[in-house]
Amino acid sequence: MRTFFNVEDIGDLNKALSEAKEVKANRFGFQGLGKNKTLLMIFFNNSLRTRLSTQKAAMNLGMNVIVLDVNAGAWKLETERGVIMDGDKSEHLLEAIPVMGCYCDVIGVRSFAGLSDREYDYAETIVNQFVKYSGRPVFAMETATVHPLQAFADLITIEEHKKNSRPKVVLTWAPHCRALPQAVPNSFAQWMNAADVDFVITQPHGYELDPKFVGSARVEYDQKKALEGADFVYAKNWSCPGVENASDYGKILSKDMSWTIDAEHMSWTNDGYFMHCLPVRRGLIVTDDVIESDHSLVIPEAANREISAEVVIKRILESL
Ligand code: CP
Repeated sequence: MRTFFNVEDIGDLNKALSEAKEVKANRFGFQGLGKNKTLLMIFFNNSLRTRLSTQKAAMNLGMNVIVLDVNAGAWKLETERGVIMDGDKSEHLLEAIPVMGCYCDVIGVRSFAGLSDREYDYAETIVNQFVKYSGRPVFAMETATVHPLQAFADLITIEEHKKNSRPKVVLTWAPHCRALPQAVPNSFAQWMNAADVDFVITQPHGYELDPKFVGSARVEYDQKKALEGADFVYAKNWSCPGVENASDYGKILSKDMSWTIDAEHMSWTNDGYFMHCLPVRRGLIVTDDVIESDHSLVIPEAANREISAEVVIKRILESL
């Protein structure tokens, strides 16, 4: 595997889930693969889980790890071509990327959406430059439009907790005070469409995700109807994807608190589990009692981030 951005990159999902189970049972069993190999983790944005879990996964595999926070300690990077660099950006990404590639064998990149230019964000300009110019395998640690390590960890968590062979999984929009990217819901939708689940997306009008991620999912605008009988409730905020109206891209169209997941919402489900990728804003996305309940999977999801990362890095190391 040379790149990891979309569900297709991991191949057969049942095989990937079996491998995740194997890795989880024996997470230090593949140490030889990473010997004398270096992972460079590049962060353009903040992170807690991705930073810790991916580093841990690479260390489990015997790798050396370098972490670079681009905005703290490196030269400020210009990302556009054709500009006169007379501002505060001292280095161009097109030199920085091949230089970074000199010092490592594998690269992980985190780079959020700017949420001002839909075309630029959905073209995945920054990570595609890493793929093109680094000369190294590149995997997403959340990009402008996808977060596959999270979606894979979520799928592992669903697999571990499902009570029937084809569970009902509902992705529900929830309110937030800041405009957030669509990367997590995009990837969650993409991975659920590929998995053997009954998948429903619910959101207020105007929050329709890009059709390439919605795929074959059922879209239900009535949140109560969507949640009825759900085995898993995956709550997430996202800003307007700009599908209906491109000029609304990245905007907050609603802060409707009736969409916050509370005990009443969970009572509509099939004794369902609550899921969220974290970090989560309590009182907006979910109430304290729901996230603290024994039906909350937020910590197991975070724990499985180590496993999803280990499977992905293992596959990349095997292909070197
Ligand atoms: N879920 C997730 O990616 O968390 P971080 O932003 O803390 O890495």
